[in-house]
Amino acid sequence: MSKVLIDCDPGHDDATAILYAARHLELVGISTVYGNQSVEKTTNNALSLKALLGLDVPVARGCEQPLNHVFSHGGDVHGKTGIDGAELPPPEGEAEDIHAVDFIIEMASRHREELVLCPIGPFTNVALALRKEPRLKHWLRGISVMGGTTQIGNTTPVAEFNIWSDPEAADIVYRAGVPMWMVGLNVTRQVGIDLQDIEKLESGSTVARTFGGLFRFFRESLQKIHGLSTASMHDPCALVPFIVPDLITYRECPVEIETSHGLTRGMTVCDFRNLTKARLENIRGQANANCRVAVAVEGRALVDHIV
Ligand code: BDR
Ligand code: CA
Repeated sequence: MSKVLIDCDPGHDDATAILYAARHLELVGISTVYGNQSVEKTTNNALSLKALLGLDVPVARGCEQPLNHVFSHGGDVHGKTGIDGAELPPPEGEAEDIHAVDFIIEMASRHREELVLCPIGPFTNVALALRKEPRLKHWLRGISVMGGTTQIGNTTPVAEFNIWSDPEAADIVYRAGVPMWMVGLNVTRQVGIDLQDIEKLESGSTVARTFGGLFRFFRESLQKIHGLSTASMHDPCALVPFIVPDLITYRECPVEIETSHGLTRGMTVCDFRNLTKARLENIRGQANANCRVAVAVEGRALVDHIV
């Protein structure tokens, strides 16, 4: 069973990823970051989810802002609390007495070569951890992200929210030399919870009913803003390679992050040209692609598995 640490900004689909990881993997920790809401709110939400799900997992609070700019929390997709749509229990206990950046380093050191780090919010904590501890890249088994897209974006026409929130941090992560998996909107938007799924959940256990309410809100938000008819389960997709690997197909290729301040800021530029290793060596200084990028998914099968 793979060991994972989830770095997140719960968030409806983050909450689902936490539940999915707790059910199928060894979830060694949760670190929080600003994103879907302020880090105060995302941390409280993580602690409330601990209570709802009866989890015994440490939660460490992380960065409240990106590396180089000021971020304002709109809350339009995930609501005022960051996870509107159902009443969660009060937060269980408190966050650990350690910053998320140090927590990530400590957990990776403790579980050397076994831990998969899953950033499913803006990448600020992860970038700072890689910068602070140069050995971290050798200690991790891999980094599996929800972020980016090979097609259209959601925050801008070409950029996805987690990358767009802190492109400089994402750039550090993609250049770190750690084995990487990236699942972006091109795949996660095909993993959509529909009204029938929601109704099924709403007639289930306390946890199921809570998630039914959360998904109902999330679906309506995505419908209002993006015209979608389902609630996209973006974040749990980052865990799929370690739970049901056959359901998402990944293709290895070089990926770079656009950090300029023009129209394409935050774009994940995936090079699917299939260049030879010699050519890659020539233009990138290394013969290998830096990322496995998700290109296809059995959407309905994955939604059924998650539900
Ligand atoms: C990502 O942004 C957030 O809204 C979701 O939690 C997910 O991590 C999708 O773009
Ligand atoms: Ca998220």
